[in-house]
Amino acid sequence: MPSRWQTCTRAWIWRGISKVATKPKLYWLVPATVTGALVPFVLMAYRLYQHRLGANPIATALNQVGLLALIFLCASLSCTPLKVLFNWNWPLRVRRTLGLCGFFAALLHFSIYFALDQRLELEPVLKDITKRPFIAVGFSALVLLVPLAWTSTRGALARMGFVRWQRLHRLAYVIGALGVVHFYLRVKANHAQPIIYGLIVALGFALRLLAKLKKSRDMRLRAGLRAARSEST
Ligand code: HEM
Repeated sequence: MPSRWQTCTRAWIWRGISKVATKPKLYWLVPATVTGALVPFVLMAYRLYQHRLGANPIATALNQVGLLALIFLCASLSCTPLKVLFNWNWPLRVRRTLGLCGFFAALLHFSIYFALDQRLELEPVLKDITKRPFIAVGFSALVLLVPLAWTSTRGALARMGFVRWQRLHRLAYVIGALGVVHFYLRVKANHAQPIIYGLIVALGFALRLLAKLKKSRDMRLRAGLRAARSEST
């Protein structure tokens, strides 16, 4: 007859195994996100090929790719708030992929501007960056995105250590805000759209901050309880 210890250990191991076995692996999530992210670019290329990108295809492509960059960045910034609000883990699995999609879209947006709009001439680009605030803000967002994309690998995280890595990656909110300001300054009349993106970034930031405050309050409470318990014994 098995002892009580053996039965308990077996039950504990079995519970662990079944938990792992039933935990959804969601291997398809990242490939599905990348495929979904590529769809608007493929559609845009198809419309360009069919000469259906409007009277000024360069301006249309520039604006649409810029908007996609902002959408991906906002989606990436919404992953942690979704975890905080609904305790979902799956958004965290696509946070990095969405951020990288935002980076590549921003890079493509800049490339269209530099190569097609400005015909690879450095002087007018530098003049634009120094004279037009909205271009300067967009350029700052792109420059800040580079170190985040560079350090988005597990290797970089291990090399930097979690605290330093996390500190650097907090820049994501600054980049989101710069993207929104860039859009706001670019729009002449109806500011509803940039304001909506601004609210998404601000709400995500506020939720993240609240979760952090709650966590540190809980930790302080637990430390207080532990101290009180050790004093009474
Ligand atoms: C994170 C980086 C960036 C984001 C999120 C972003 C986003 C956007 C958005 C949302 C628009 C407007 C789209 C629309 O009206 O539908 C836009 C337009 C534009 N952006 Fe960016 N952008 C970024 C970086 C840059 C950079 C680096 C440059 C150039 C140095 C740039 C130059 C432009 C230009 C020239 C336009 C079009 C302006 C016009 O047609 O009047 N952007 N961008």
